Amino acid sequence: MVREFANIQLASSAAVKHIVDLAVSAVRDRGFCSIVLAGGSTPRHTYELLSADANAERMPWQQSHFFWGDERWLAANHPDNNFCMADKALLSRVSIPAYNIHRITTGHKNPETGAALYEKHLRDFFHLMGRAEMKSDVEDKTIPSFDLVLLGMGTDGHTASLFPGSSLLEEKKKWVAAVPQGAGSPPVARITLTLPLLNRAENVVFLISGSRKRAILDTILTRPQEAEKVYPAARIKPVGNLVWLAAAEG
Ligand code: 6PG
Repeated sequence: MVREFANIQLASSAAVKHIVDLAVSAVRDRGFCSIVLAGGSTPRHTYELLSADANAERMPWQQSHFFWGDERWLAANHPDNNFCMADKALLSRVSIPAYNIHRITTGHKNPETGAALYEKHLRDFFHLMGRAEMKSDVEDKTIPSFDLVLLGMGTDGHTASLFPGSSLLEEKKKWVAAVPQGAGSPPVARITLTLPLLNRAENVVFLISGSRKRAILDTILTRPQEAEKVYPAARIKPVGNLVWLAAAEG
């Protein structure tokens, strides 16, 4: 489903409603919710809005667990670190337990170590929360389903840190992987969730803005097979719901 908005403010308000509604229903049904945050700059306004009074009061912060779809190999206090942006825009402004914030840690001896540590953290978390046993139609029955995955998209069609032409697009086993420096902006090494994990999501919401990204979305919608060869975002086909929130500008 695609929902179009005149500007990023309106799209961000819609994103906040998705987040709150899904969190409330997940907590009601399962006692907790698992939300993957997007990086980059587009979601900043959404995070700021989510921390605002009316929305913040509806969010079940004590039962909400936040994860990241990818992270730049930078210190947690670096302005280009995705956790840093979300912490400033949202997490530092609401009363959420520190142990509900599951950031991708950096600063290890290399990104591969960081990726392996995050995957272990995810496995331990979902095993502890009892969502390790998955539906029988998947090869790896331990793959968990995040309640909500928020994603952005670059003007090259990348999403998370899955870039065009990357061998990670064919990854079938790992849930989390290291990305060598060079791709993306900033061109630093990264850690990213992979398609097997992202596509197990109950809900995926893309938030994009501008005509260049909208043109990529149009290709994804109208020529999906062609798009899958070029744009990693076209490979996001979750078992659950997929919603695109597209702002014309801003
Ligand atoms: C990252 C993001 C990335 C982002 C897109 C769009 O770490 O770079 O996770 O996937 O969503 O690059 O970024 P903007 O929202 O800044 O255009």
